[in-house]
Amino acid sequence: MSKKDDERFIITIKSNTKDLFAFTKLVPQKKKRIEKASAEPITSDPINNIARKLHPERQYLKICEIKEETKSTKTFKLIQDPNSMTKELTYFRPGQYLSVKVKVNGVEITRPYSLASSPKDALNGFYELTIRREEEGFLTHYIWDHWKVGAKVESSGPEGFFYYEPLRDLKNIVGIAGGSGITPFRSIAKAIVEELIDARLILLYGSSEEDDIVYYEEFKELEKNYPDKFKVVYILSCEEITLEGCEQGFITTDIIEKYCEARNSSFFICGPQIMYDFVEKEMEKLHLPHKRIRREAFGEIKDVISLPGFPKELAEKSFKIKVRIGNLMKEIPALSSESILVAMERANLSPPSKCRSGECGFCRSLLISGDIYVSPFSDWRRSADKKFNYFHPCASYPITNLEIKVPRHL
Ligand code: FES
Repeated sequence: MSKKDDERFIITIKSNTKDLFAFTKLVPQKKKRIEKASAEPITSDPINNIARKLHPERQYLKICEIKEETKSTKTFKLIQDPNSMTKELTYFRPGQYLSVKVKVNGVEITRPYSLASSPKDALNGFYELTIRREEEGFLTHYIWDHWKVGAKVESSGPEGFFYYEPLRDLKNIVGIAGGSGITPFRSIAKAIVEELIDARLILLYGSSEEDDIVYYEEFKELEKNYPDKFKVVYILSCEEITLEGCEQGFITTDIIEKYCEARNSSFFICGPQIMYDFVEKEMEKLHLPHKRIRREAFGEIKDVISLPGFPKELAEKSFKIKVRIGNLMKEIPALSSESILVAMERANLSPPSKCRSGECGFCRSLLISGDIYVSPFSDWRRSADKKFNYFHPCASYPITNLEIKVPRHL
């Protein structure tokens, strides 16, 4: 080790023994630094401050603009609520989501929505969420009716693992999107053209109808301006197609091979369950290593009864769950076809949740007694958790009466 100046050293490898002995100098050096240090106590920890900034428990936002993308899809632009504790928006990795907390008829529920804007936009003071109104779901109907300009929105910090990681992923990204699964790819595409990510994105975007396509004009501009970085292929399952250059049908192996260098790419898939079922079977034919395929996991399973291993004879049966949450103990009813998280939300217990797909671990709870069915597609429990009966209520379903203990997050 050679001394450069009083405070800093450059490490040069000389030999094992020399280097080992060199470390004996570290203690006297440390002592010297301590002697020179200020006697004033350190009142704030810079590392903790950065961690808090990057992982805030909550963010308080306000809608400043709404854009209608299609008949059923809107993009909400959100800024920090100036009258709240949120002083700036948290930076994120393109592909991450916000877990939005909404109170509907006095019941608190959360939903994960991918950030559709780029991380640079967050530094410029705004996020964008693109949300499709679901025919069946009550939450998106609530959002449609209540999220107007000026409305306040409470969310988590950015969450999730669906992002490009240069140490792991290849520079050719193939994005496979279905329906509203397109939103994280808008963020990734923007980050690529803004040079936050050094990669190229080919997007295979499946929709039922032309009218369902979101960001059409915007993507056209991006393709025109950055032909080496971004390309989108529309695959429509409807019979009649008027848009030029679209493929008709579904995202098959042939389509993937026609547009992508499959063996030299990292795949990112985001869409409804039905699309995963189809696309993943097609992709098996390509024999790609597991690590080349990433799949967004957010959201609850829609039809648990159809999943492998679900005891069909118990479909729609009702059970009782004794829930211990904080100092409270309450017995609630629960259907076998609905997640334990949903049962607790219906009972207004405000259980903790973020991803709602068994991935983030935020709802991790203890199963004291009874049996549960865990969705095999959302079982991200660690083996120690399985051994000691910890489970994720968002990905688990009651198949007997239960007793559980749930953490209380503020
Ligand atoms: S909410 Fe993420 S694991 Fe349950």
